[in-house]
Amino acid sequence: MENNQQAAPASPSIPSSQIPRDHRETVGDYTVESPRMSARDVNVHYGDKHAIKGVNLDLGRNEVLAMIGPSGCGKSTFLRCLNRMNDTVKDCKVTGDITLDNKNIYDKKLDVVELRAQVGMVFQKPNPFPKSIYENVAWGARIHGLANTNAELDEIVETSLQKAGLWNEVKDRLDAQGTGLSGGQQQRLCIARTIAINPEVILMDEPCSALDPIATAIVEDLIDELREQFTIAIVTHSMHQAARVSQRTAYFHLGDLIEIGATNDIFTRPRHELTEDYISGRFG
Ligand SMILES: Nc1ncnc2c1ncn2[C@@H]1O[C@H](COP(=O)(O)OP(=O)(O)O)[C@@H](O)[C@H]1O
Ligand SMILES: [Mg+2]
Repeated sequence: MENNQQAAPASPSIPSSQIPRDHRETVGDYTVESPRMSARDVNVHYGDKHAIKGVNLDLGRNEVLAMIGPSGCGKSTFLRCLNRMNDTVKDCKVTGDITLDNKNIYDKKLDVVELRAQVGMVFQKPNPFPKSIYENVAWGARIHGLANTNAELDEIVETSLQKAGLWNEVKDRLDAQGTGLSGGQQQRLCIARTIAINPEVILMDEPCSALDPIATAIVEDLIDELREQFTIAIVTHSMHQAARVSQRTAYFHLGDLIEIGATNDIFTRPRHELTEDYISGRFG
């Protein structure tokens, strides 16, 4: 109970009687050596709804962290805290500490646009702009001033499309509409668009849920390659996907981070019975 003081949200609109004190302690080591991002005692409320309860979690360098758990357990909410996407959600209150390279991302002086360039996001449904393939990738690099000349911009577009595994499929039609690509290609285009701004961390919220199995396999291979350069946190409702792409897995349940550990351990010898129930398909 020594956390009571810290756990109290800053918002006076939430009566303290409604703050559950019984949130579950996390099983497993949530820390990593030299983390890229670190979350400590993170609580999220939507009005009275306590959606994330005192979560502590590190994101390591060059790793894919999978976030799993039943629908509504707070996976997307937690992911959105990591690049302050909840800032714009009505009645959403985030408390606690989140750092990127040891800097507080909720610092009032921090430029949120800059943060979202460093911590990019790929969504469930591919959402290319209604512009050319070239422009989809060039746009962010241009507004962030990453290219001084057209040749430099061309270079960023080509490299980003290559890293996203899409270059060979689109190099002869860069002027075609991004929205005209197949679903899997569109998602890789969105990944290229994210990469073009040179992020450190890429957040992915069920990035394959709208894709067919072949497109899913291509994106999963890509995620594994991207790990060499980026830190990746991926929300997935597919345990098979979590097992295929991630090195660590975090299991959420009703806003609690129940268990965290090496992916192989979580799926072969879970320590918490809620984790075991979920991975053995008893619910979720
Ligand atoms: N904008 C919102 N306003 C109010 N409640 C929300 C909002 N977004 C999510 N929630 C609630 O917060 C909880 C966690 O939701 P979410 O993070 O979307 O879960 P998941 O991604 O694991 O399915 C759910 O109970 C959901 O209904
Ligand atoms: Mg979600």
